[in-house]
Amino acid sequence: MTVRSTAPKDTLGEELVRFDGVVKRFRTSLGRRQTALDGFSMTIPRGSVVGLLGPNGSGKTTALKALLGLVRADAGTIRAFGRQLPEGQALVASRMGALIEGPAFTASLSGERNLRLLGELHGVGAETVAEALELVGLTQAARRPYSGYSLGMKQRLGVAGALLAAPELLVLDEPMNGLDPEAVRDMRALFTRLRDERGMTIVVSSHILAEVELVCDRVTIVRHGTVIRDGPVGELLDRGTVHTVVRVEDVTAARSVLERAGLAVTAAVGPQGPELHVGATAADPGPALLKVLAEHGLYPQELRLRQASLEDVYINAIREADAARGATGAAGDVG
Ligand SMILES: Nc1ncnc2c1ncn2[C@@H]1O[C@H](COP(=O)(O)OP(=O)(O)OP(=O)(O)O)[C@@H](O)[C@H]1O
Ligand SMILES: [Mg+2]
Repeated sequence: MTVRSTAPKDTLGEELVRFDGVVKRFRTSLGRRQTALDGFSMTIPRGSVVGLLGPNGSGKTTALKALLGLVRADAGTIRAFGRQLPEGQALVASRMGALIEGPAFTASLSGERNLRLLGELHGVGAETVAEALELVGLTQAARRPYSGYSLGMKQRLGVAGALLAAPELLVLDEPMNGLDPEAVRDMRALFTRLRDERGMTIVVSSHILAEVELVCDRVTIVRHGTVIRDGPVGELLDRGTVHTVVRVEDVTAARSVLERAGLAVTAAVGPQGPELHVGATAADPGPALLKVLAEHGLYPQELRLRQASLEDVYINAIREADAARGATGAAGDVG
């Protein structure tokens, strides 16, 4: 596997891919019009791991398929490696490796044999296949028939297949689907390694937000075919809501005291029972909260600042987008 690009992580900036206002409508079997992408715009900077997030049916797979030339956009533009698609598709195809909607291999053949056959298409031999198997941790299982592989092993073989042509851009649609926690962690380590050691750029759709938060440099959140949040993970988290968790015996009394002090309070149930979430007022609201509560004879068992997680950012983004959609009366698709 030759290394084509060794861009270090700190030279982010060059765009490998740019979607601009991409629209894709399907006609369903019932003749209904279904808008999968509705002005979809996102960029994929070189050397980054980009997470594509969104609820079921929001357009993630369609966007990745459009990039790979598997579906054709009705409007908007997609550029990859400086070329306009679909005109430049053949030229950029060799620079992308992909795993979309699960791998397709021959059940009776071993993992290695399957990859060797795939390798022939890419003009790569046994050495490259062995290296790809090693990267995904399948060396031991290489000679076992594919039919005996677990779901996780199948997914990993799919990723190995996508790596054979030493792509600069790896496009993976839900590669962590069905993997157990250890396999998910291995996949995450693989992405980091491919980015850091090979300068690979990776775009990965996923529903496993905690993993995306750990591995991705950027995330793009899509809803109804439109991007509703986009940016470096750190920035999105910083802009996310931060609140203070207050665990106190008399939740009702504490709530009214804090609300009378002008604070935004919501009741919640934490792992240890009822708690209050107080909207952030200062970088360290602890002393102020303690003072207000103590003045009313209320002494919290726990007071802690909670930073937003990617899941919070995601849920908020979806809620806001839905509220805005409701407010503007945006309708679904019509037949
Ligand atoms: N070939 C097709 N024919 C008709 N409708 C389609 C087709 N492909 C996708 N769609 C529709 O386009 C919308 C977006 O689908 P897409 O598969 O891109 O979503 P997704 O974000 O990948 O969802 P999931 O998280 O479930 O994988 C959905 O409403 C889907 O039903
Ligand atoms: Mg999908």
